[in-house]
Order: sequence, then structure tokens, then C-alpha cells
Amino acid sequence: MFYDFVDTGSWTEQTYRSNQEDFQRIMLRQRILVNMEVRSTATNMVGQPVSMPVALAPTGMTGFQHADGEILAARAAKVFGVPFTLSTMSICSMEDVSAGIDGHPFWFQLYVMKDRSFVERLIERARAIRCSALVLTLDLQMIGQRHIDIKNGLSVPPRFNLSAIADLSTKLRWGWNMLKTSRRHFGNIVGHTDQKMDLAGYATWINNQFDPSLTWDDVAWIKTRWDGKLILKGIMDAEDAKRAVDTGADALIVSNHGGRQLDGAPSSISALPHIVDAVGKQVEIHMDGGVRSGQDVLKARALGAQGCYIGRSFLFGLGAMGEAGVTKALEIIHRELELSMAFCGKTDIHAVDRSILI
Ligand code: FNR
Repeated sequence: MFYDFVDTGSWTEQTYRSNQEDFQRIMLRQRILVNMEVRSTATNMVGQPVSMPVALAPTGMTGFQHADGEILAARAAKVFGVPFTLSTMSICSMEDVSAGIDGHPFWFQLYVMKDRSFVERLIERARAIRCSALVLTLDLQMIGQRHIDIKNGLSVPPRFNLSAIADLSTKLRWGWNMLKTSRRHFGNIVGHTDQKMDLAGYATWINNQFDPSLTWDDVAWIKTRWDGKLILKGIMDAEDAKRAVDTGADALIVSNHGGRQLDGAPSSISALPHIVDAVGKQVEIHMDGGVRSGQDVLKARALGAQGCYIGRSFLFGLGAMGEAGVTKALEIIHRELELSMAFCGKTDIHAVDRSILI
């Protein structure tokens, strides 16, 4: 059920598929006899140093891919020197993640819920634990339909019907780890709302809290409450990108939510150059969607992204091997990025531009 939650897109999954497929269509220029002894992928994202231009994307319910998943992924990101972004809908709370990585700063992704006093408290809490950027997601006022989640009866806390128990009986290590942790609900939310309720009450509260009435005014409202780095997530259109620049945000993320919202939207990598052409001189551009390899990072960077985010790529590693799996995913991407960059005749990530593409 939780694996399916990751490996799915909305409706026909056309956009989910094209996010990956469109990367494959981009060809790299092979160059030879450039001294490639010394290579560097180090750069920065929103002014913060990164060992390669890759951040971990905010993903809800990561603590169900592996017990304490958010803490484990944040640890791997910290050691690797890349940003970790914690979702509002995480299982581990932001305070738990902060304690789990000894107060090392990470990024917090905010969903603007209907209960604005709850949102204000979330921002306050993010400030208190020194989150170094706020990632404001703007493409999920309502949730796109994902068929497999409906079929599986995905819920938090998980419902233990017959098929869930049958499923669990083949995943004993997962179950044992989940039994050992106390983190099994939405850690940023439970105990932090105005009303106290039971766990079923929280499930209903959350379902009703996504706000379909969100507008650009709400972005301005957030901006007055957060004076740190602000990153706007979910921009796919040049007109929206121009509006995003007007908000004074530090960066925007070209993203279709990993193909989980508007099915039929173009892939992120095909939208990227249009956004870069429209506003790339005014604001830092990031992208996510379909990044599965170092070559994908290289292509995004060549098309003008300062950095990329990975969602499924780190989640698959986490589900398989916990913290070591996230580290492995990052290592694979880093190795492929630096070698492919060198095979294109560039030894420093800052020298990568559209000239490496055919
Ligand atoms: C997401 N994504 C997401 N985005 C966000 O802003 N808040 C969230 O809570 C979530 N939750 C979430 C759960 C899961 C299981 C997935 C796969 C994705 C979207 C995510 O941040 C990112 O945009 C995509 O994952 C990028 O696509 P790839 O790298 O997964 O192909």
C-alpha cells in the first residue's frame, strides 16, 4: 500500500510517465580529450552550499516507507551535504527531525491549510528549529485522484483489514520496525491543532483542511510571516512564473508534483526551458519530476535549473535499505553526474549550460 502510494501518478499517469520519458529524449554531446582528473559538482541552492545540485523533495508519509523515515533520510542528506525538505504531511515531526540530526538546518515544506492559525504556528515552529528555507507548495489546493490508493484503501493510521494483514505478513521487517517506533501518525499535526481529537478525528480534520480557495494573496500573507528564504513549488506556466517573481520569492520549482496532480500536464523537464526563458534572469529556478539519475540532473542543469529535487529516487532507497539506501541513491546520482559531466567536456558544474546538449 505504501509502495503503491509512491509509485503512482494521478488518473492515467501520463504525466508521471512523461516526466521520466522526456529526459530520455534529450541527447548529450560527447566530447573527448578534456583533462577530467579534477571534477566538482559543488554549488549552491538559494545561497546555501550543496555538494551537488540535488535536494530531497518533500514527500508525505515518508515515515511509512520505513520506520522513522524522515529522520533517516535527513541524516543521509546531512552527511552528503544536500538539503532535506520535510513535508507538512510527514510522520516524524519537524522537532523530531531536528533533534535526529543534532539541530542541523533543513527545509520545511508548507501546505497552507484552511486553519490559518495552525499555519502560523507551523511557521513559528519551523523558525524555532532554524529551518533554513520554506518551500511553499502551490499545486495542491485539492488532491488529484490516484486510483491505486483508492483501491488499496490507503489511510492514516493504516486500517488493518484482511488484505492489509496478508500484505503485512510478507513484510515482517517493516512491521517489526514500525512496532518499535512511536512515530505512526502525522507528527506535525497531531497535538498541534486547536481542538483535541482522537486519531480518526485527525484523519477527517486533515482531509478537510486542504484549501481550494488559495490565491496569490495567500502567498503574500505567508511572505509577511516568514523572513527567511522562500521557495515556491508547483510552477509550470510562464504566466504563473511571472506572478511568482512578483511575490519576491527567492526561487521557484518547476514541478507538476511528480505527475500526481494534473494528469495531462507536460513533463517538468519540457516546461523548464520556457520558465527559464521567461524569468530565469530574475529568480533562481529549480525543478523536480522524473529525476532518476545523475544524467537527469545534468540535463536539468544544462537547461537552466540551479538545482533539482528527487522524490521517488530517494524513497525507493529508503524503503529498501533505510538510511543506507538514501545514501546509496545519492551516491549513484553523484557518480553518474560527475562522470557524465566530464564526458561532455565539463569538469565544473558551473560550466554546464545548453551547449552540452544536442
Ligand atoms: C510527493 N510530493 C509532495 N510534494 C509536496 O510539496 N508535499 C508533499 O507532502 C508531497 N508528498 C509526496 C508524496 C509522494 C509519495 C511523492 C512521490 C511525491 C511531490 C514531491 O515533492 C515532488 O514534487 C515529486 O516527487 C518529484 O517527482 P519524482 O522525483 O518523485 O519523480
